[in-house]
Amino acid sequence: MLSGKHIVLAVTGGIAAYKACELTRLFKKQGAEVRVMMTESATRFVQPLTFETLSGYHVSVDSFEHSWEIEHISLAKFADLCVIAPATANIMAKICAGIADDLVSTAVMAMPCKTLIAPAMNTVMWRSAANQDNVAALKSRGFAFIGPATGELACGDSDEGRMCEPEQILEASIALLCPKKDLAGLNVLVTAGPTRELLDPVRFITNRSTGKMGYAIAEAARERGAEVTLVSGPVSFSKPSGVEVCSVVSTQDMYDAVTALAPDSDVVIQAAAPADFTAPQIS
Ligand SMILES: Cc1cc2nc3c(=O)[nH]c(=O)nc-3n(C[C@H](O)[C@H](O)[C@H](O)COP(=O)(O)O)c2cc1C
Repeated sequence: MLSGKHIVLAVTGGIAAYKACELTRLFKKQGAEVRVMMTESATRFVQPLTFETLSGYHVSVDSFEHSWEIEHISLAKFADLCVIAPATANIMAKICAGIADDLVSTAVMAMPCKTLIAPAMNTVMWRSAANQDNVAALKSRGFAFIGPATGELACGDSDEGRMCEPEQILEASIALLCPKKDLAGLNVLVTAGPTRELLDPVRFITNRSTGKMGYAIAEAARERGAEVTLVSGPVSFSKPSGVEVCSVVSTQDMYDAVTALAPDSDVVIQAAAPADFTAPQIS
């Protein structure tokens, strides 16, 4: 399924680094070309030689090792997908902060392609405020995540923080590299966000809906090949690309837009939070 695809696998310094060997093998079995880069810490857990043998490529650790080519740029140009597995709390913090002080962090910053992150760490580290902020920021910037799973950890606890199994990371990678277009040919109508009911020209009744759910549904449908129309109340973020957006203000506006568009739609998903009340008259 991955024939002709180029994957850069970044291995960082956690016990789960040994599972990245199996992941390399699974990628290769699916026909992908795999180049592995490792942090210095990762090399304390698994020898680069193991990945070199499994991938058939030199393993990159040191940015300055090959002065005749700029290693991080050559890796970034090679990749159709970058997979960080396992991803330490440290590498996520560095990516989040824009720190590029070793080969892995620099190459990830230079990647024009999608990056899939498979975190692995102790539960308290995973749930720490700093780490959770970093994860949320990375997700909002478009980084894809898989896991962590709940289960037995290297520290002896059994809780959240375990790296997902290589087979699951392979599946997630396939989904990113070969997205399903199973909604191709369908018109999908999605509603999102709050509405506003004017009391007078300045004041209005509304609610706390952000519109995130409807926008995420619209983007997911677009990714799966649908022609998407989004009827959106006032929200604070920009229009998604590749989606027709019909901006409305009041519940009546939303009703009118949806009843006009619905007959031409194959699927209608109503994720908006229209106001329940409207003023009998606007003063
Ligand atoms: C035995 C051992 C196991 C470790 N396991 C993890 C881990 O699973 N997850 C993690 O985030 N850090 C783990 N660490 C800490 C990282 O190795 C450390 O933060 C290191 O600076 C990470 O460097 P890197 O992100 O450049 O690979 C472990 C450290 C040791 C000594």
